[in-house]
Amino acid sequence: LPYEEPMDIDYAFDGPLGTWDIAQLQRGYKVYKEVCSACHGLKFVAFRNLAELGYSEAQVKAEAATWQVPGVDPNTGEATMRAAEPTDYFPSPYPNAVAAAAANNNAIPPDLSLMTKARGDGTNYVASLLVGYQEPSAELLAEHPEAAPSPGLYHNIYFPNLNLAMAPPLTSAGQVTYDDGTEATIAQMSTDVAAFLTWTAEPTLIKRKQTGWPVLIFLLFATVLAYMSKQQIWSAVK
Ligand code: HEM
Repeated sequence: LPYEEPMDIDYAFDGPLGTWDIAQLQRGYKVYKEVCSACHGLKFVAFRNLAELGYSEAQVKAEAATWQVPGVDPNTGEATMRAAEPTDYFPSPYPNAVAAAAANNNAIPPDLSLMTKARGDGTNYVASLLVGYQEPSAELLAEHPEAAPSPGLYHNIYFPNLNLAMAPPLTSAGQVTYDDGTEATIAQMSTDVAAFLTWTAEPTLIKRKQTGWPVLIFLLFATVLAYMSKQQIWSAVK
């Protein structure tokens, strides 16, 4: 079926000199928290990791406490929910896969920790997917009648099957109120949450890129040195 390649969006972390835009990651976290976390977990991210987004230890602790995770009642030993600690991981919103499927027209919302790595051009894909909902065009339906969404599915030009079980999660500007005053258009929220999910999938991305430069400089230096040694060692041989 003819789906669209993701849009090419500019990010601060692009390219060999890329860096995280911390304010953007904080905005993206807010979108995740207030919108996506209703259906998607982040099981490989711990609350303490938020310190990397510029939050102090006290802020991380306070932020963790706003989340509920499964726990055990110390008195009765029964399963219960408790406020999260910095060492806890982001919880799945559903107790199990059956409950997740039951709530979503039989589709299980995947964990988003590694989503930008799991899909080709993942950051652009996630950002595009969130703005890609539209009615199937008449031409498309004329050529591919099977591209019409069945009940409970939503048409999205960036989704390879063209129809997915996720209703458009971002539907109105200002759905999230940004603390830094950035205007929360749908495109802005999509771009920001895609940036945040790029960080969750590879928190060491920038460190990896920055390590490359000293390595290159060292290799260059070592090459020159090796060449000069070779000249020196063989200088007596005519
Ligand atoms: C699937 C992102 C909010 C339910 C997905 C996928 C992504 C994603 C990247 C995978 C698409 C693929 O397989 O290629 C997001 C983001 C959200 C968000 C960034 C917040 C902005 C929600 C919400 C719900 C939801 C609020 C539930 C009401 C689902 C379901 C699927 C899905 C059921 C599986 C769809 C299928 O395979 O047909 N989401 N999501 N999502 N999401 Fe979301």
